[in-house]
Amino acid sequence: MSNYQTGILADVPGHSRYLFFSLQNSDELSTALQQLRDAVDGEETVVGIGESTLRAIDKDIPGMRSFPGLTGPGIDIPSTPYALLLWLRGDDRGELLHRTRTLSQTIETAFQLDDVIEGFRYREGDDLSGYEDGTENPKDGDAINVAITSDTGKRLDGSSFVAIQQWVHNLDQFQAYSSDEQDHIIGRRISDNEEIEDAPEAAHVKRTAQEDFDPEAFVVRRSMPWSAPDGEGLVFVAFGNTFDAFEALLNRMTGNDDGIVDSLFSFTNPITGCYFWCPPANNGRIDLTAMGIE
Ligand code: HEM
Repeated sequence: MSNYQTGILADVPGHSRYLFFSLQNSDELSTALQQLRDAVDGEETVVGIGESTLRAIDKDIPGMRSFPGLTGPGIDIPSTPYALLLWLRGDDRGELLHRTRTLSQTIETAFQLDDVIEGFRYREGDDLSGYEDGTENPKDGDAINVAITSDTGKRLDGSSFVAIQQWVHNLDQFQAYSSDEQDHIIGRRISDNEEIEDAPEAAHVKRTAQEDFDPEAFVVRRSMPWSAPDGEGLVFVAFGNTFDAFEALLNRMTGNDDGIVDSLFSFTNPITGCYFWCPPANNGRIDLTAMGIE
C-alpha cells in the first residue's frame, strides 16, 4: 500500500493540465483544502501546496521553501511562486477541462485560478526537440527512494517536493543547427538515444549527469511538452524527497559552478519556476494532517 500520491510516479499520461492558483481569502483556506482533499485522489489529480499557503495557515513543512531565482552569464531563471498546484492527468482533453472547472469551483472561496498550461505526450515521451526525455530517470524502488520522503515522521512520510518550470523553445533556432550540433547540445545521438562519450562539457546530459554530483543529484522527471497559439516548449517537472538535487542540477546548468552554461539555453529558456510540497496520501486520499487539517 503506497503512502504517496501515486500520480507522481505513474507514467506520464496522454494529456495534462497544470493549474496554478493564488490565495485570495485565507479565512476560507482550511475549508477549501478540506473540500479539495475530498475531491481528489492523488492519482488522476496530484496536489502541490505552495509556501504562501503554508505560511497563511502558519505551518512549517521541513524542507519546503520558495523557488530560487538564479542568474548566470546571459541567463535569468525566474521565480514565479503560486499558492497551489493541481496537476490534472488523463487521456481526454474534454474531461480535463471539465475537471478543471469542477475543482476550481470547489475551492473558489479561497483560491483563484491564475494560470493553466496544457501538456501532452509527444510520441512515447519525447521533448519537442525530438529527443527522448526521461531515459535516465530512476525506476521502481529507486524512484520511490528519490522522490518520496521516509523517516520524516508519521504525518510527513510519503511527501514529495516538486519543481516546475515552463520552458519556451525556439524550434526555428534548434532546427537551424545541424544534426551533429543538435546531438552535441543534448549530449545524446537522436538516431539511437546513446550518450555521446566525447560530447562537449556544455552538453545537457554532461551538465546534469546525476551521479557526478556530490552528493548524487537524482530526481524523478515527469516533464511534458506544451503548446499554445503563442508558442511551445516543455513543462519541466522534477520530484524529489528534497529540493536539493534539483537546485544542484539547475545551478550547474546556469554555469554557476564552473562557468560552463548548459547548451540547452541556446534554444530554450524558462519563463516560470515554482516549488510545491505534495502531501502524502493513503488509500487514494490526500493526507493534510501535517497542515492541521483533519
Ligand atoms: C527545456 C528544458 C529541458 C529539456 C528539453 C531537457 C531534455 C533532456 C533530455 C533530452 C535528456 C536526455 C534523456 C534523459 O535522460 O532524460 C535530459 C536528461 C536530463 N535532464 Fe533535462 N531537459 C530540460 C531541462 C532540465 C532541467 C531544468 C533539469 C534540472 C534542473 C534537467 C535535468 C536532467 C537530468 C537530471 C537528466 C539526466 C542526466 C543523466 O543522469 O544522464 N533537465 N534532459
